[in-house]
Amino acid sequence: MTDIPSGTCNVVLGSRITEDSETYAAAASFSPHFADTLIDSIDFKSTDHILDIGCGNGIFTSRFAPQVGYVLEVDSSPSMIDAAKTRNYGSTSTDFRAVNCRLPEDDQEIMNSNWDEVASNAAFHWILRDPSTRISTLKAIFRSMKPGRVFFSEMCGHGNAPEKFTAFKFGLVNQ
Ligand SMILES: C[S@@+](CC[C@H](N)C(=O)[O-])C[C@H]1O[C@@H](n2cnc3c(N)ncnc32)[C@H](O)[C@@H]1O
Repeated sequence: MTDIPSGTCNVVLGSRITEDSETYAAAASFSPHFADTLIDSIDFKSTDHILDIGCGNGIFTSRFAPQVGYVLEVDSSPSMIDAAKTRNYGSTSTDFRAVNCRLPEDDQEIMNSNWDEVASNAAFHWILRDPSTRISTLKAIFRSMKPGRVFFSEMCGHGNAPEKFTAFKFGLVNQ
């Protein structure tokens, strides 16, 4: 019998849940609500332009979108983007794109230096998984925003926090 390295099953199962919108909705509908308290702490303006990275099926986005002027929702999964398009964001203008955010510096629409906030829920533990692109990804997100604005992100599901804090500390020390 082939040995399965420790952690492999969780990663495979996790990928399937997070990339398919119907599986995600059935198995992890609680996940978009981890960030409710965080969203309530942000002072949104009706003119704000927000980039939501790893937007999934749009439930997290729909919690703050009605308070702002524009949201670009990006996700590597076309299935998630299709589901996000069906959501109600009030009168707020929205765009959607299926894009891998591990190399945001290559994407001119993301790198417009004009975001008031960059948002992300339950996605950066996937996006920062590859150590070779961690620092460049974090630096690119920093450069994509207006100076002094806010990047708010949640990904503290069981076991995610240590990886997140390691990646952010590494990015800050090496910026
Ligand atoms: C757990 S879901 C969270 C979705 C949504 N933010 C929410 O709160 O419900 C993680 C999302 O990250 C996306 N994702 C994973 N790796 C990605 C990458 N490299 N670039 C963009 N999106 C990615 C997945 O497709 C999935 O939709």
